Amino acid sequence: MAQNRVSIFDTTLRDGEQSPGCSMDLAEKVRMAEKLQELGVDIIEAGFPIASEGDFAAVRAVAAHCREVKVAALCRTAAQDVARAAEALARAARPRIHTFCATSDIHLEHKLKKTRGEVVAMTRAAVAQARNYADDVEFSAEDATRSDIDYLCEVLDTAVDAGASVLNVPDTVGYTTPTEMARLVEQVRERVVRDRDVTISVHCHNDLGLAVANSLAALDAGARQIECTINGIGERAGNASLEEIVMALHVRADRLPFETGIITTELYPASQLLSSIVGFDVQPNKAIVGRNAFAHEAGIHQHGVINNPLCYEIMTPESVGVQANALVLGKHSGRHALSLRYMELGFNVSAGELDAAYRRFTDLADKKKRIYDQDLISLLSTTACVAA
Ligand code: KIV
Ligand code: ZN
Repeated sequence: MAQNRVSIFDTTLRDGEQSPGCSMDLAEKVRMAEKLQELGVDIIEAGFPIASEGDFAAVRAVAAHCREVKVAALCRTAAQDVARAAEALARAARPRIHTFCATSDIHLEHKLKKTRGEVVAMTRAAVAQARNYADDVEFSAEDATRSDIDYLCEVLDTAVDAGASVLNVPDTVGYTTPTEMARLVEQVRERVVRDRDVTISVHCHNDLGLAVANSLAALDAGARQIECTINGIGERAGNASLEEIVMALHVRADRLPFETGIITTELYPASQLLSSIVGFDVQPNKAIVGRNAFAHEAGIHQHGVINNPLCYEIMTPESVGVQANALVLGKHSGRHALSLRYMELGFNVSAGELDAAYRRFTDLADKKKRIYDQDLISLLSTTACVAA
């Protein structure tokens, strides 16, 4: 793979699905997985097979349906976990076993109740066992960012010796900062990977709102796999958002010269599909896929955007798959269609408000070739309410 090619490891169906209110049934997971394949992700983490029958079935089904991507199954470093992950992946075209163990003292002492030596031994055994089933084995050092660096390197080195080709350094609790993350990846590259053919991966949680920034900082330091989710769903405050990472690389290619296999016009459709499956939308001001991401409220901004979108838009709505609104403008039908669209978007618009919005709409439609849902929202005064 080219030096600057970054693998996108999507964990919407595993870490994402672990977040409250985000559970999906088998058919929904397969539908989402097919969309992720269309989007162009490199790896789909489809579940944690030992955790439940449902997760086992989901990994099996995704592996059977998605033949072009790698399909990963998560397991702890215990023999029965690894065997179960391998069983779930038995029919996969490109299986990856992803085994993990915590490396921070706080986790060793209070959760695992294991010594450092025991964790090293568990890592060696689990990775070696996984290699009996699959060539592609990833090892994650859970809570890597709060681990002692010498010990972390020892565990990661053991994983590589036992056959892991991907080393993941998760920021499990979303605690690190971009410079700290870059330094950590640099150390893993220099002290563990050296000249071996091993990919460094990061998996950042968003507890301090830094998951995307930390992931991007890791790329500069040599990471070449990012673990992320659609809409940033995941444990607690979520994971790094796939759409934000991909568009940061796309829009700021001058500063971040990395490539992914993502088809950016599939980002919004993938986000919408996930929202419809889990039953809730992203926040309106969510970057890239939020309902207001391309809406211009202030008159001065609207004026600038009409003259030249570059005044206030660093990417076009089309580039992320937001479709221009196909409203047909007519004296009456236009007003009716506008009212319907507001209802679909979740706005309760009074007759007076509709009149005012319609006037602004026809004005705007005269000047602007394409009208987006985001434009329609910005035409409403702040009194229009969002339906519960
Ligand atoms: O957050 C985390 O550390 C994880 C690992 C299992 C990769 O989800
Ligand atoms: Zn996680």
